[in-house]
Amino acid sequence: MSFTLTTPLYYVNDRPHLGSTYTTLACDAVARYRRLCGEEVVFVTGCDEHGLKIQRTAEAAGLTPQAHCDRVSDQYRDLWQRWQISHDRFIRTTDLRHRQLVHQFFARVVASGDVVEGRQQGWYCVACEEFKDDPHEADDPECPVHRRPLEWRDEVNLFFRLSRYQRQIEELIARPGFIAPASRRREVQNFVAGGLKDFSISRIGLPWGIPVPGHEGHTFYVWFDALLGYLSALLEPSETVDLNLVLQRGWPASLHVIGKDILRFHAVFWPAMLLSAGLPLPEQVFGHGFLTREGQKMGKSLGNVLDPEVLLKRCGADAVRWYLLRDIPFGDDGDFQQQRFSDLVNNDLANTIGNLLNRTSSMARKWFAEAVPPAGAAGEPRHPLAVRALAAGPVYESAMQALDFRSAAEAVLQLAIEANGFLNEQAPWKRMKEPGQEEQVAAALYAVLETCRWVGLLLAPLLPALSGRILSQLGQPVLTGVQASPGDPSPWRQALHWGGLAPGLPLPEPSPVMLRLELDAPL
Ligand code: MSP
Repeated sequence: MSFTLTTPLYYVNDRPHLGSTYTTLACDAVARYRRLCGEEVVFVTGCDEHGLKIQRTAEAAGLTPQAHCDRVSDQYRDLWQRWQISHDRFIRTTDLRHRQLVHQFFARVVASGDVVEGRQQGWYCVACEEFKDDPHEADDPECPVHRRPLEWRDEVNLFFRLSRYQRQIEELIARPGFIAPASRRREVQNFVAGGLKDFSISRIGLPWGIPVPGHEGHTFYVWFDALLGYLSALLEPSETVDLNLVLQRGWPASLHVIGKDILRFHAVFWPAMLLSAGLPLPEQVFGHGFLTREGQKMGKSLGNVLDPEVLLKRCGADAVRWYLLRDIPFGDDGDFQQQRFSDLVNNDLANTIGNLLNRTSSMARKWFAEAVPPAGAAGEPRHPLAVRALAAGPVYESAMQALDFRSAAEAVLQLAIEANGFLNEQAPWKRMKEPGQEEQVAAALYAVLETCRWVGLLLAPLLPALSGRILSQLGQPVLTGVQASPGDPSPWRQALHWGGLAPGLPLPEPSPVMLRLELDAPL
């Protein structure tokens, strides 16, 4: 059984921003962690390219919708590559293969008797691509999310009979763990308790969409088509498009990671569509919080959007990943604060972890023939740092399983803090000057270097690049979770035992593994 996880398929109406980068980085950490544990992972991301919003954006840019989509989806693909995102699949909903799959899926839903004609009347938000039940200001209604005018729609189109799935959806969302974090469940429960209404799945007069077979002039509602991207992403490009095959390619998904804004689509509409088509349901939908910047909502009009390109160039992936994953409880809203960002990166990564490794390996090289010193008593699992490391492992693992990146990061950081404390207490730079202390010094340095090895290993899913530099500095193989590492226990878990660093192993000349961030100007 593989572990399939997905990011949302991002709209190509605009360039990638920090919000989509946040979700994708978090998924990347999960995917790497699972692969390191030996699991087979299918990590899906991609772009959602149909709908009115995109059609209008393309028109405004003087491009055909296809040319516009090609351009923006290339930007996404390229950005993820530069952020070293380890996705296995990148789906574009304008793929012809996706269209075929949508048609197959639709045929099943029709066969279940779940497609009926109906009249759709209501206020529509083009930015959300969603009808709004209770718009603000009845005279001049605007979207409560986007604060933009809503558009009136009145047309006869096709509806999906969501109302038939009331009981099954109630049972599903009551299932512990289906909606995570648990705090988000209430909101969905209230929505469902209000009674599920059928929703329209086609549009008339909207050319930029997938045509509905047998219904001239209709295209599929963008959300109906987009959610199905999670399925078409699983099929190999070379194989015939056959909906049945998804079951052998990683469906059902273990985890959909999304922002809280699109929870309803994933926890209510999507499962009902799958039930109708006779397909199994995803195990978990995790709705994370929203990022603001220095207390303000990010938006083009405020001119305060954080550009992932700029962040990457000026700060590097490790710094950003650390800040977002370590400082913001995944699930809660979070505020990006530049000062705090650079303080955390400099304190945690450059000082606590980077300097620790640097000064310890310099001392080891200087006094012990440029190699790992003899372990002596520090090779024992009773050693105080061994006790700490062995306790940190399970804490870290259960945090990663629960997508609690903050606790996972804290467990690693705490280990490095303990090692710093131990090193200062042992003060090998003083002891080395006293006669007969060499063995003690060797053991102290060994214990700290071995702790650094643990830190490097545990950082692999969170900060793969820094992890790689730490492990290389210790002459260790680098494991970054890009490929599955099968085995029981997996090579990564196997490496997580105390005493893995071999005394006498040559230590490469140290160079700083993490540079300090000096951010004078705003990002
Ligand atoms: N295309 C739909 C998803 C279809 S999934 C089958 C969509 N796309 S989107 O481009 O608008 O991306 C939405 C996702 O981006 C959110 O769910 C969230 O993951 C992320 N974020 C967008 N802005 C964000 C913040 N300010 N903060 C955190 N994440 C946010 O909705």
